[in-house]
Formats: sequence, C-alpha cells, structure tokens
Amino acid sequence: MTRTVAGAPPARLVDRFGREHRDLRVSLTDRCNLRCTYCMPAEGLAWLPSADQLTAEEITRVVRVATELGITEVRLTGGEPLIRPDVVDIVARITALPLAPDMSVTTNGLQLASLAGPLRDAGLARVNISCDTLSPETFAKLTLRDRLDDVLAGIAAARAAGLAPIKVNTVLMRGVNDHEVASLVRWALDEGLSLRFIEQMPLDPQHGWSRATMVTRSEILDQLQRAGFQLSAIPGRGSAPAEEFLVDGGPARVGIVGSVTNPFCDACDRVRLTADGHWRSCLFAHQEADLRTLLRDGADDEALTATMIGEIAAKKRGHGIDDPAFLQPSRPMSAIGG
Ligand SMILES: C[S@@+](CC[C@H](N)C(=O)[O-])C[C@H]1O[C@@H](n2cnc3c(N)ncnc32)[C@H](O)[C@@H]1O
Ligand code: SF4
Repeated sequence: MTRTVAGAPPARLVDRFGREHRDLRVSLTDRCNLRCTYCMPAEGLAWLPSADQLTAEEITRVVRVATELGITEVRLTGGEPLIRPDVVDIVARITALPLAPDMSVTTNGLQLASLAGPLRDAGLARVNISCDTLSPETFAKLTLRDRLDDVLAGIAAARAAGLAPIKVNTVLMRGVNDHEVASLVRWALDEGLSLRFIEQMPLDPQHGWSRATMVTRSEILDQLQRAGFQLSAIPGRGSAPAEEFLVDGGPARVGIVGSVTNPFCDACDRVRLTADGHWRSCLFAHQEADLRTLLRDGADDEALTATMIGEIAAKKRGHGIDDPAFLQPSRPMSAIGG
C-alpha cells in the first residue's frame, strides 16, 4: 500500500536530518468553546471561513495519502475538535482506512460526556484531555468560562467508554495555577490519569508569552520534589514530547513537556495539517504547503505526495525559540493544531 516507483524504496516523509515522520496532528477547526488565556484572546480572533475548512472527505484523503507515506499515528486537535459536528464521522472514516493509524484526540473535554462512547465506537483509541486547575474559580479565570464540572464529567465519560490511558495536559501560568502542581499530581494519581505539564510556548495571538513569566520544567520538578514526591526519570523517551518520571518508585508516572527549556526537536516525528488544509512541518514553521488548493483543483495522489514530501524535506532542525532572531509564527496555536 505504500507509494513506490518500481525498484525504488517506498516514499517516506523524511527530512534533511534523517527524521522520519510518523505522527500527524490534524486540526479540525480553529474555533473553541473556551478561551484559555495562553491560547486565545477573549474576543476579536478572526475565525477561518467555514468554506475554507477541509471537509471530512478531504481530511480523510490527506490522511490516507499520509498513511501511505509512513504516518502511523493520527491525533485530532484544534481549536476544539469536538465542536466539529462531523467529528465522529471523521474518526470512523480514518479508522476504516486500509492502513488505519492509531487514532487519538486532544480535547478540552467539555463535550466528552456525550461523545466519548460514540468516538470509541467509531474506533478512537485514546484521549488527551486538557485541565489546568482543580479550582472552579481559577478555571473560570484561566479559560474565561465556568465549566470545570464539564471537564471532570468528560474525564469520567472517557474512562467509562474505555478510552485508555487518559492523559491530562496541564499548562501552568505564573500566579494563576502554578501553586497547584502537587495537588494536580495527587489528583491524577488518585484518578489513574497520566498527567503531563506543558511549558507555555509563544503561540498566542496576543503575544502574551514571556520567558520571564513562563513556568519552567526545572521549577515544576523542584515543586514536586519539595512536595515530597520521589521522581525517577524513565529512559527511552524516543520521539515522545513528554519526559516521563516514575512517582515514588512507580507504577504511577508524571510527565513534563519542556518544549522551551528542554526541546525535543532532534527526535521530532510530527507533522501538522491545519483546518484549512495547509501542511506544516513544525508548530513554529513560517512556511506551509497549501494542500486545499491542490485537493480542490483535482490534483492526483502523486501531486499531493510530492508536495507533502517536499515540505517535510525542508523542515528546520529546531523551533529556534532561543535564537535572538526568533519570530513567532503568524498562525496561533489554535489555528495550527496543538
Ligand atoms: C491548542 S489545544 C487544542 C485541543 C483542545 N482544545 C485542548 O485544549 O486540549 C492543545 C493543547 O495545547 C495546549 N496549548 C495551547 N496553547 C499553548 C501554549 N501557548 N503553550 C503550550 N501549550 C499550549 C493546550 O493546553 C492543550 O493541551
Ligand atoms: S487550549 Fe484548547 S480549550 Fe483552550 S482555548 Fe486553546 S483550543 Fe480552546
């Protein structure tokens, strides 16, 4: 099923540094029902016109071609992927592909209470649910919506539907929720959830990120150690963004995605498809390939393949946040797909 020219090795998504890409993040929409302050402004963000968003059929075609080029994992994201009315259909289409990838979703969890079962039935394997605080007041301050209960109900529904393991993503904001490091870990351990702290990255359209206020990996480790957790690093992280630690000898674990202070670009195997059909080699890329125009102009699979391979071939070595000339990409996280 892989794309081959007679006598040649199968075409693959390999860059100049020999990194082979196997993990595709697909943004289903740039819109969201929360307004996490590190991700979106309260109002005024221009949404993609609906007609510009890829249809379920177009997404499935790009994913099919990607699987023929070696993609084995697909994660649906956004914006909030579960606000897309056809999300269950999209999962069912992708899991029915001949080279069906391992399918997961990253979600804020608000709609999981009703969708966890149908998503599981459609072939979804796992979910990552974002939850930055256990305080309803802090949740409302951080997301500008009073909906912590819906997230917790979503986590319960994911568990009841058999979506496992459930990973929880947490972004810390100084002076907002950074005092909750230990209580979040205790909660996750009690609930059997796999929690990962993610360093805040400069991807918000308000340009509110600053290195000085970002809560770093080493601060998180310090807080955990001061709270009495014994952490031992688990070797063999491979291309996984989270560095994992056994807690108190295991089997419980906690993860840290130190995207800024401990980047994992050298092992990166991720590529992204935006909701409007652009193929991006990196969250921080300044260029991307317009697959939507190709799709709508009737391009054949060979043309899609050539464009997808070409974009990956040109991937930069790293995100360059430490470079004095670093420039934030013009698309925010919500429009790229986190
Ligand atoms: C962009 S969201 C999209 C999926 C879904 N709406 C959610 O919140 O899980 C994916 C992940 O990116 C994280 N995120 C958003 N903006 C971020 C930033 N500036 N730095 C680091 N992580 C960020 C979110 O916390 C979430 O875990
Ligand atoms: S992080 Fe996710 S839930 Fe929060 S505003 Fe961004 S897209 Fe929405």
